[in-house]
Amino acid sequence: MIFNTHTHLNVKQFNETYDQVIKDSILKGLTKILVVGFNKETIEKAIMLAEKYEEVYATVGWHPVDAIYATEESFKLIEKYIEHPKVLAVGECGLDYHWDTSPKEVQMKVFKRQIELAIKYKKPLIVHSRDSMKDTYEFLLEEGASEVGGIMHCYTGSVEMVKDFIGLNFLISLAGPVTFKNAKTPKEVARIVPLDKLLVETDCPYLAPEPIRGKQNKAYYVTYILEEIAKIKEIDLNELKRITYNNAIKLFGIGE
Ligand code: NI
Repeated sequence: MIFNTHTHLNVKQFNETYDQVIKDSILKGLTKILVVGFNKETIEKAIMLAEKYEEVYATVGWHPVDAIYATEESFKLIEKYIEHPKVLAVGECGLDYHWDTSPKEVQMKVFKRQIELAIKYKKPLIVHSRDSMKDTYEFLLEEGASEVGGIMHCYTGSVEMVKDFIGLNFLISLAGPVTFKNAKTPKEVARIVPLDKLLVETDCPYLAPEPIRGKQNKAYYVTYILEEIAKIKEIDLNELKRITYNNAIKLFGIGE
């Protein structure tokens, strides 16, 4: 049993193939696949996929890169679906200083609204943070996000900050970078993160792990990420699958 906590089977790259990718994923043991919404189109597509496939769940959120396009309608859309039986979290939301497509204050406003919705509806947050770890941490702290907690998705922060986010009631989710040959920090993060705070994801179609790095990522390539972490932590692969699966089940408050 594998729980992939972050996929984008809702983007156009999978328009022709999502059905096959989901079927192949189920064959490879992925019994839970979270499809993360991040704007109007992807929220609606995530809901559609979650309604179509038993194994698929959705999230509703607005990405910081798209923050300038967020309107009142966007938050209404998030609220419309937030209590949908297959919606597990709010996000992805957060701060992205890498692409810098939306001014910081706009990103923070949009992030704040989603934290408020998560708290109002008691849903965990899925947080995207790129080149913004310190600000993200302080923002989550100030806005009281620890009340609901959530996931630091594709964690790319320092080894030192892992305990800060865990202290805020967040789990650490690792993706493709942990498999990259020269990725010193992600491998060190994998080594030190407590097993009960660890999740796995692909963020597909982006960030394909070794050995398919550079190609289109698929939801079932999460197995490469699990294999690498099992090696780093010197733990049995099936045990790691079971633990990360149960961590996600517990966080989202859903049954087996
Ligand atoms: Ni994502």
